[in-house]
Amino acid sequence: MKTVLVLNGPNLNLLGTREPAVYGSETLADVERICEEAAQSHGLRAECRQTSYEGQLIDWIHEAGQACARGEMAGVVLNAGALTHTSIALHDAIKGAAVPVIEYHISNVHAREAFRHQSWISPVAKAVMAGLGVRGYGVAVAALALLAGADG
Ligand code: DQA
Repeated sequence: MKTVLVLNGPNLNLLGTREPAVYGSETLADVERICEEAAQSHGLRAECRQTSYEGQLIDWIHEAGQACARGEMAGVVLNAGALTHTSIALHDAIKGAAVPVIEYHISNVHAREAFRHQSWISPVAKAVMAGLGVRGYGVAVAALALLAGADG
């Protein structure tokens, strides 16, 4: 059974109490449950990790590239938080690791401040999804399952 790696970046550990009008009242633990259920229903296994450190996300993306190359992983659902808008290093990591990434954002970043409209992840992502709330993580996991099936 292949794994889907769900990576959450800075401040996403605060889900539930952080700006609930924007991000809702569900917690990171809820995100993990949603991802596990979605993965299970698509014959996959979800592994969920969160960090506020850019370098840690990069290391995990490199690891994911190796796991994908071994045929053990379907890809990564990545919500890099604010690093989305700043991190060329994450852009390079995704490109270098050749790992299928679904970029996900809980809020519709394009309906928010102009500084959230630029993403360094989008040009190297397989797909980009935003604005479906916490439940959207499950849709992103399903999208990765679809891609993995389509890729054989
Ligand atoms: C976010 C959107 C980002 O702009 C913001 O910095 C976040 C969360 C989202 O999930 O909507 O931390 O990625």
